Amino acid sequence: MTAEEAAELVQHDDHVGFSGFTPAGCPKAVPAAIGRRAEAEHRKGKPFKIGMFTGASTGDSIDGNLARVHAIKFRTPYQSNSDLREAINGQDAPYFDLHLSHLSQMLRYGFLGKVNVAIIEAADITDDGEIVPTCGLGIAPTVCRMADKIIVELNRKHPKEIRGIHDVYEPADPPKRREIPVYTPCDRIGTHCIKVDPRKIAAVVETDLDNEGGSFTPVDAVTAKIGDNVANFLVNEMKAGRIPKEFLPVQSGVGNIANAVLASMGANKNIPVFEIYTEVIQDAVISLMKDGRVKFASGCSFTVSNPAMEEIYNNLAFFKDKLLLRPQEISNNPEIIRRLGLITINTALEADIFGNINSTHVLGTKMMNGIGGSGDFTRNAYMSIFTAPSVAKGTNISAIVPMVSHHDHSEHSVSVLITEQGIADLRGKSPMQRAHAIIENCVHPDYKQLLADYLTLGKGQTPHHLKACFALHHAFNETKDMHNADWAKYV
Ligand code: COA
Repeated sequence: MTAEEAAELVQHDDHVGFSGFTPAGCPKAVPAAIGRRAEAEHRKGKPFKIGMFTGASTGDSIDGNLARVHAIKFRTPYQSNSDLREAINGQDAPYFDLHLSHLSQMLRYGFLGKVNVAIIEAADITDDGEIVPTCGLGIAPTVCRMADKIIVELNRKHPKEIRGIHDVYEPADPPKRREIPVYTPCDRIGTHCIKVDPRKIAAVVETDLDNEGGSFTPVDAVTAKIGDNVANFLVNEMKAGRIPKEFLPVQSGVGNIANAVLASMGANKNIPVFEIYTEVIQDAVISLMKDGRVKFASGCSFTVSNPAMEEIYNNLAFFKDKLLLRPQEISNNPEIIRRLGLITINTALEADIFGNINSTHVLGTKMMNGIGGSGDFTRNAYMSIFTAPSVAKGTNISAIVPMVSHHDHSEHSVSVLITEQGIADLRGKSPMQRAHAIIENCVHPDYKQLLADYLTLGKGQTPHHLKACFALHHAFNETKDMHNADWAKYV
């Protein structure tokens, strides 16, 4: 079928589940055609909106396109597209932000309604209903099983020989669930493909479209310093015997800082060759694997630049036994994260002096992307590290504030905070001790005195001053500069 014909199978009000995780593995041609269909229906004065379940963020053909044509009934669990972000913050696209490991089971439990259609990008498909996904799995196995009909985008950019790189596994639901038998990052517990009833396959659309991901910005002085601080911290933890000498598997979050952190860890020869058990496998992992610094990586997607994707496909014999893609319910599963003892490294938008983290909301109100897997990993880590540049918008925003303006990860889950300024080890410290460690080691020099003064305003175990705690945010909203915060206005 053509993408246009397949799009006719999706109706207004349908709930649609998409394959992929980040732009990797997402369908492109059919969502683009659904956007055109929505526009045509709207021109006729008819409603056309769909509910959207995805793995995580997607490519522009899904999120950007459907946001621009006002075709979103709801959207979950994570996004990072600027047009969708605008629609969410303009309240045009209702969005609920979820821990990524929760979505598949919430769908199975019936909490989120039906899945009418699954749209799945595949490298191969067989007559008896075996679908070989491409470079990102996400929630594909669950939505394929639950959907009334399945539309397959067979994308020739992905070789059939990728079969074998996936490990497809869905746990049973309570009260029948047993342990998920992943004991090392490379354990395989499932199948090579998604097996569906072939009668449910309503369309196969052939494409040869590239992934819609962007490239990483080069490592700069700030991200390099954050990366070095993380690597040095981990080396010291090993020397102190708090990380075993064979090291522990690493999870590293999304974006440029995560990419820089892995590059620094790879370059630091005091860190032994390590394994990765993570959500997104980014470019840095591929180069570290070629250099022999990473021996195995299990993830949910290859969120790599198109050149890195080609590199994997051109050298499948080398990479195939070193890379493994799992559904997010398994890559982000709390049980496995706790069992493997992951060192988790995620990026904060904002942290407070007591160690609470805001990963999602700019100045407390505007959704940036979503919590993604940061909660899945942070809460269950062996050791959870948060990184952030100490300032943003020049130096007009301090990423470290008295009280976070939105709360994603609590002080109870955060072991270490690292900025380009330094490292605050928060383990075993009271709120006041944490505040001193963070102000001394992580805060930008411009804001050290301001935050130290805040600590004298309140009383109690966590000495907040409830009128003054958002003074930096108010100062930014009023003057575009947090330097102008003035405690005297509130006290
Ligand atoms: N207040 C307001 N704005 C801030 C800010 C703060 N405290 N800190 C940063 N910003 C702004 C920056 O200036 C930048 O905006 P700009 O591009 O307009 O200058 C933006 O927020 C962040 O930029 P970006 O380049 O997207 O950052 P990043 O790639 O390092 O990503 C997160 C950082 C927090 C947005 C990202 O890691 C994320 O979405 N995390 C949540 C999900 C997650 O952790 N997933 C991983 C689990 S595996």
